[in-house]
Amino acid sequence: MDLNTSAWWLNSIGYIIYPETFFDSNGDGVGDLNGILSKLDYLRDLGVNLLWICPIFQSPMDDNGYDVSDYGAINPRFGTMKDFDNLLAEAHKRGIRILLDFVLNHTSDQHAWFQKALQDPSSPERKFYFFRKGKIVDGKILPPNNWKGFFASSAWEQVPGTDDFYLHIFSKHMPDVDWSNPTLREEYFKIANYYLDKGVDGFRLDAVAHLAKDLSFSDSALKTDTSGYVLDTSKFSNRPELFDYLQEFKNRCLQGRNVLTVGEVGGNISPEEALKICDRSYGSINLAFNFDTVWNNGNYGSIGKKDEDIKTDVLLLKRNFMRWYNADHEKADMPLYWCNHDHPRVVSQYGSVKYRNESAKMLITTLLFLYGTPFIYYGDEIGMSNVQFAKPEQFFSDKATESGVAEWRKSGFTDEQIVAFLNRAARLNARTPMQWDDTKNAGFSKADNLIILANPNYVEGVNVQKEMENPYSILNFFQFAINKRRDAVINDIVSYGPLELIDPNHPDVFAYLHPGSQKLMVISNFRSFDVFFTFYYEIADVMLHNYGDVKIVNHIFQLRPFESYLIRIR
Ligand code: GLC
Repeated sequence: MDLNTSAWWLNSIGYIIYPETFFDSNGDGVGDLNGILSKLDYLRDLGVNLLWICPIFQSPMDDNGYDVSDYGAINPRFGTMKDFDNLLAEAHKRGIRILLDFVLNHTSDQHAWFQKALQDPSSPERKFYFFRKGKIVDGKILPPNNWKGFFASSAWEQVPGTDDFYLHIFSKHMPDVDWSNPTLREEYFKIANYYLDKGVDGFRLDAVAHLAKDLSFSDSALKTDTSGYVLDTSKFSNRPELFDYLQEFKNRCLQGRNVLTVGEVGGNISPEEALKICDRSYGSINLAFNFDTVWNNGNYGSIGKKDEDIKTDVLLLKRNFMRWYNADHEKADMPLYWCNHDHPRVVSQYGSVKYRNESAKMLITTLLFLYGTPFIYYGDEIGMSNVQFAKPEQFFSDKATESGVAEWRKSGFTDEQIVAFLNRAARLNARTPMQWDDTKNAGFSKADNLIILANPNYVEGVNVQKEMENPYSILNFFQFAINKRRDAVINDIVSYGPLELIDPNHPDVFAYLHPGSQKLMVISNFRSFDVFFTFYYEIADVMLHNYGDVKIVNHIFQLRPFESYLIRIR
């Protein structure tokens, strides 16, 4: 397999794997690298050729591997370095590339650097982190400032027995590292080069938006919550020094290598600003992973709302995709995705469990032919959907959710409201075991005590084996659709040709056209009811369709629930 074309990600279909729940090869209840290895043929046959594997480094798993305690070692739960080398080699044999999920904003508090920093305040490692003195107010010691973190109330944790605090914008077991320290940066460059020298095809750069902090550590002027804290991302997201750090990372690690970097820039960056990172001519990394198209239904932070209040805002969704397209298509490459391990399942988010088959097919059709490198989240190819738990505690294997629940209870939300919200929005929804067949644990593991149980709908046909048997299944549709997307002619149209929305003000339909010499159009109904769509073109070829017959009368499509087309027009 030739893996050496430049900008190869323009011909790639990505697939995101959450290793803990993908496939357990040794029956200990945890997914592992050999589990991924045993599914490489499945992935190749599906048509994907680029894997992003969530973190596999040594970790106490406070945040499921995003808390790394040793970057040089593989987490024994997942296997050994030999297993990883073997997985990489076997993937490459099949024409599949691998991105490692590289966490460089923080380490685990169990990392040797942090342990040294705690034990010896005069050690160089102390300066790898942000230690600051607390403030004395009315004889009580308070954190150095009013910053709130993503997972906790104050973003500072006191070092027991001292008046020192350390910064952690995520869990208190994940202290932030100080990228303004050149010695620290050097350590990260060494780690990156170690894996690149091994032959990994690049990195997904976790939480990369946050590497630069406001080093004055002044209080945020925004309105604080009742505890006196406020999440003010301007204090630690996409700050000017970030762009310098990433340029240095490029010069020291990426230059001259044919690798891909996908940086998580989060929800607080404009496409224009993101170009400082991903512009082809002067940027430092290749793809800026933003959150703008993930929550366009009012679900984010929707605690207290009813399920009926959550409705996809199709106009907003289209606007957001086009905003990034317009800023990027001449200057930068782009990632495309519906879901990752931090979001609810897309069938539950933008589709419908009732119309699982139709909506899963509609969503992949809509995504695949937009401008960018698509990333499919494991299980989307069989229409996996959200859990339906009864108690908040069932979500507590995710610490971020656990701390959220404590806050919501304090604010007076009932457990019923909390569970309804979590069943809709929690990230655990996307972390349940991959559903391979209808045997115990969905065929994911032979163990008795899983940390995260399989979604019981695996016995109702939501599993790979059942989907393989049915020619009209979601899985077979995905395979067919991916194959179309990878067709060289179509890939050229999608990657290099123009793109425009059709009927941009239609509130229910997402339709777009590649108006080049070969005209490709996607028409997708995002509703669970029939809608009408006026169509003035002549169909040359229906290339993908999720219903059995075409319903068009006098230039008007009558689109059934989640009906979707990829067509070539004259
Ligand atoms: C990123 C990861 C998320 C993790 C956080 C802290 O947002 O995607 O899963 O919790 O960073 O590392």
